[in-house]
Amino acid sequence: MIIALNNKSNLTKQEFREYQNAISDVRTEVNMILCPNMLNIANFSTFNNCYLGAQNVSKYPNGAHTGEVSAEQLKSHGVSFCIVGHSERREDGETDEDIKEKVLRLYEQGIIPILCIGESFRERQEGEYTDVIINEVTSVTDALTEEQKNRLIIAYEPIWSIGTGMIPENYEIEEVFRIIKQIVPNSKILYGGSANEKNVSTINKCKYLDGYLLGGLSLKPQELQVFIEKTEEK
Ligand code: PGA
Repeated sequence: MIIALNNKSNLTKQEFREYQNAISDVRTEVNMILCPNMLNIANFSTFNNCYLGAQNVSKYPNGAHTGEVSAEQLKSHGVSFCIVGHSERREDGETDEDIKEKVLRLYEQGIIPILCIGESFRERQEGEYTDVIINEVTSVTDALTEEQKNRLIIAYEPIWSIGTGMIPENYEIEEVFRIIKQIVPNSKILYGGSANEKNVSTINKCKYLDGYLLGGLSLKPQELQVFIEKTEEK
């Protein structure tokens, strides 16, 4: 089981220090991946079962790209995983082509991408979601070697579920997981979108589930502790 924590654009330097103290007290057997903001990556100190992740990476290598942070720079700070293609970034204009380039830059440095995919509410209502999912996955996986595909982590995050308290039914999650498995049978699959300590026991029953990507809950160490205890019952 993998629990990836997406802090998004939260926590100042001081707040992160306090947060990290609290989060390192969380008792767990599962593998956590903490993804702080870019600056707090430099303030991370290793603790049990917790890997360092990033929330974004430049699609370019090092060089004249003002404001960008490259995969090599992330690597030099101990980053081993990186979220790519989060819907909040896609909404700001990130394209499938950008996302593919970012994934390639990460693999060049040996960083494992956590590729976020997911449909909007309209796309689900109008039955377009399977095409959206297939396109978001294949636009990246078509450029990968078999070995790279085997190491990929995919996070299914329905956009309408992120931060809203709405979650899909298990059969809806499993349908998407099955589509992903048909394209990349060996990738790990996470669920993300309003997952919390109250609904985790239900989502845990989903076939093919390898873990979670948590936004809001990542900022609440006490609730996270309860969440993790429930995932360990799986
Ligand atoms: P949420 O966010 O858990 O707050 O819904 C998940 C995400 O955006 O990765």
